[in-house]
Amino acid sequence: RVVGVLKELEESCETTVGRLRQVVDAMAVEMHAGLASEGGSKLKMLLTFVDNLPSGSEKGTFYGLDLGGTNFRVLRVELGGQRSSFDRDVAQQAIPPRLMTGRSEDLFDFIASSLQHLVEKGNDSEQSPIIKELGFTFSFPVKQTSVSSGILIKWTKGFAITDMVGKEVAGVLQQTLARKGLNMQVAVLVNNTVGTLALGHYHDADTVAAVIIGTGTNACYWERTDAIIKCQGLLTTSGGMVVNMEWGNFWSSHMPRTSYDIELDAESPNPNDQGFEKMISGMYLGDIVRRVILRMSQESDVFGPVFSSLSVPFALGYASMTPLMAAMHEDDSPELTKVARILKDDLKIPDLPLKARKLVVKVCDVVARRAARLAAAGIVGILKKIGRDGSGCIRVGRTRSDTKMRRTVVAIEGSLYTQYTMFREYLHEALHEILGEDIAQHVILKVTEDGSGTGAALLAASHSSKSVDNV
Ligand code: BG6
Ligand code: GLC
Repeated sequence: RVVGVLKELEESCETTVGRLRQVVDAMAVEMHAGLASEGGSKLKMLLTFVDNLPSGSEKGTFYGLDLGGTNFRVLRVELGGQRSSFDRDVAQQAIPPRLMTGRSEDLFDFIASSLQHLVEKGNDSEQSPIIKELGFTFSFPVKQTSVSSGILIKWTKGFAITDMVGKEVAGVLQQTLARKGLNMQVAVLVNNTVGTLALGHYHDADTVAAVIIGTGTNACYWERTDAIIKCQGLLTTSGGMVVNMEWGNFWSSHMPRTSYDIELDAESPNPNDQGFEKMISGMYLGDIVRRVILRMSQESDVFGPVFSSLSVPFALGYASMTPLMAAMHEDDSPELTKVARILKDDLKIPDLPLKARKLVVKVCDVVARRAARLAAAGIVGILKKIGRDGSGCIRVGRTRSDTKMRRTVVAIEGSLYTQYTMFREYLHEALHEILGEDIAQHVILKVTEDGSGTGAALLAASHSSKSVDNV
C-alpha cells in the first residue's frame, strides 16, 4: 500500500514539459492581465517606482535594511563611483519569532536598534548633521505610492502583525528612527526581488529580472511603462519601471495539485492565498513531505507506529523542515545514515528500516522536483512576456542554432536555490527542457549573494536626492 501512496504522489506531481509549457503560457497571460487592471489577476504586478537601476557610477555612503527572509540584515555600503570600488559592512541575525506575530512597535524598535548599532560601530557619527540615506528592503506585498513609500497589503511567510496591515511601511520606520535620534532618511522602500535586481544590474547590465526562491518565492522584472496599462500616462525618463509580480500568489489549473497541497493550504496561516509559493518555497516544501510520510505511516507498518511528531502541521516551525528535507534528499551514503539520523533526532522516528528510508528520500525527490520545475516554468513565463524566450527572435539562418538571441540575465537568490543542490539542478534541467538548448544557452541565472539589502542601498544611491546623476 505504501508503494501505492508513492505512485499516486508521483502521478499527481507530474510535470511533463507539455504541462510546464501550459504553466509558462498561463504565467504570461496572467502578467498581461495584472498589468491591464487593478485586481485583474491573482498576480498583483505591483508598481515599484524604481525607474532606473544602479549603473556603477554611484558614490557615497548608504545604508540598507533587509527584512523578510530567514535573516534580518543591516548594511553600510561605500560606493566609490566605479563598480570596482565597492565596500560593505553587514550584520545579520534571525528575527526572533515572537516579533513576527507581535506588535509593529516591537518589530520596528528591533530594526532601528540594529541599525543604530551599525551606525555606532562605523566611523559615521550618529550626531552628524548630514542626513544619511537608507534603502529598506521589506519583502512583503506593498502597494507603493512612490519609490520611498507604500502600504502593506498583507503579510506572507508566517508574519502576522495585524496592526501593520494598511499602514505606510516607510513612515513607521521613519518615525521609529526619529524616536531613536537617528538622522536617517528612508530613500527607497523595495521588495527583496527589486533589491536583488538592482545588485544584479549593477554587476551586469544585461540583468532584466530577479527571482527569489527561499522561505517565500517571488519575481520582479523590468517593464516598459506603456505596457503598464492600468497606469495610463505613467511617465518615467527611462521609459521603464521595475514591476514586483508577487508571483507567490500565481495560480493556474495546469499546476499539478495533490491532496497534500489542499490540506496544507487549509491548515496554513493564509488559506486560499499564495498557491504558487505553497508548492515551491522553503516555508512549505518540508511540510508537504511530512504530510506524505504521515500518510505512508498510516497506510502501512513499514514505518512502524504512527509517530505523533508527524501529525502536527509545521511541526518543526515554519521553514525548518525544508533544510532537513534537502539533507535527507542529498544523502548519498549506501545505508542512508544521514536520513536515519535526521528521522531519529529531529523527527523523533527511530529505527526506520532501510526500505522506509529509501521511500522518504523518494518523497523528497518528487516534491523538490515538482517545485523546481514549476519555478523554472515561472521564469520562462517572464521571458515569454518580455520576448526573451526565443519565440520572437530573429532567425539569421535556417536552423534553430542560427537564431540570434540577446544575452538575458536573471538574478537569483534565496536559501532554497542557493543551498539545495538537487533543487537547483532540477530547475536548470527544466529550463533547458522548456526553452531548448539553443535558447537556454543565452539565459543566465546569476546568484547575487545577500543581494537584496545591498541592492536597496544601491537604489538609495541611484534615487538619492543628493545624487548628481539623478537631478
Ligand atoms: C537573501 C536576500 O539573500 O535572500 C534577502 O538578501 C532575501 O533579501 C533572502 O529575503 C531570501 O531568502 P530566504 O531563504 O532567506 O527567504
Ligand atoms: C513572499 C512575499 C514577497 C517576497 C517573497 C520572497 O512571497 O510576499 O514579497 O518577495 O516572499 O521572499
